[in-house]
Amino acid sequence: MAIIGIETVLYGVDDVQLCTRYFTDFGLPLLESSDEHAHFRLDEGSNVIIRHISDDAIPKSALVGTGVCEVIWGVDRQDSLDRLVNSLAVDREVRFDADGTAHCLTDDGLAVGFRVFRKNPVYSSPDPVNSPGNINRINTQRKWKAKARPKTIQHVVFQSPDPDKSWSFYRDRLGFRLSDVQKGFGIFGRADGANDHHNVYFLNAKLPFPGLDGNLRFDHVNYGVEDLDEVMVGANYMQRRGWPKSEWGLGRHRIASSIFMYLPCPTGGQAEYGADSDYLDDSWVPRVWNPMFGFFSFIHNMAPFMLDAAPWEWEYAPGYTPVPDARLADLTRAIDPKKAHPQADVAPPQAPGFS
Ligand SMILES: [Fe+2]
Repeated sequence: MAIIGIETVLYGVDDVQLCTRYFTDFGLPLLESSDEHAHFRLDEGSNVIIRHISDDAIPKSALVGTGVCEVIWGVDRQDSLDRLVNSLAVDREVRFDADGTAHCLTDDGLAVGFRVFRKNPVYSSPDPVNSPGNINRINTQRKWKAKARPKTIQHVVFQSPDPDKSWSFYRDRLGFRLSDVQKGFGIFGRADGANDHHNVYFLNAKLPFPGLDGNLRFDHVNYGVEDLDEVMVGANYMQRRGWPKSEWGLGRHRIASSIFMYLPCPTGGQAEYGADSDYLDDSWVPRVWNPMFGFFSFIHNMAPFMLDAAPWEWEYAPGYTPVPDARLADLTRAIDPKKAHPQADVAPPQAPGFS
């Protein structure tokens, strides 16, 4: 079985026309639209579909509010899809479309689907970076862009009242790999046939932060662009088109090393431009992170709750500095290779960070 990435995100929204205009400005290529829907297709072949929240095509689920109401995961081959669907049908209803797409609910009640995904290769060519004494671009200017054009859907994030339960389904039933744990905040997981740092993240909905109310809600989708310049060009273009600005502005996560820009989105939740993330394979060793330290290495507008996150006031994550002996046992328990690599010949894992 290999899930190779997100094939489709299906948004259920309050205003289809408004959201269509938003994602057109955001830079997604519009394939077709009507009064009832919009269909964007990215260069990799993945799809973004907008429909009204009350549309019959929006599956019934435990999700509260608007946003991504179903994720269709792309599977590499038909026999992989058959095996996956047969294993899911053991303990839940699986519904099929005429084209063979399978739909069901996860253990926490989110709607998911699966279909064979002929993923297109995508190309990008970020400009070489100069630094003092390290000249990679001489007598050559950086290229200019007028607006962003995301090429990939990198990950989707849900707010979950029980991130460990949400993640366990993806690990145990869909074969996802554990990427990292942001202790107390959430769990990053990667599809078994993908190399993105993460394709899904479950954020603890019970954290005392704005936008979280303890319910199972959509949070954001990350759309992959070429580099930092395209992130900022995209954000500037959105501002010129009258869309609200990002609250935090440009930043870089320490977990995944990725450049981020979260923009408010009329679908509910946010739309994220992402660039320069880590890429992983099965040799990756998951880490347990101090949550705020892992959240960012820099950010343009620090919210009040981020002000205490100066690196010198926080414990460092394992793998970067020596770990005091007293903490080593805890961390060894928390980072369980069986969770990252289910085929590993080790004892069954316990949940890291959320017990
Ligand atoms: Fe993200």
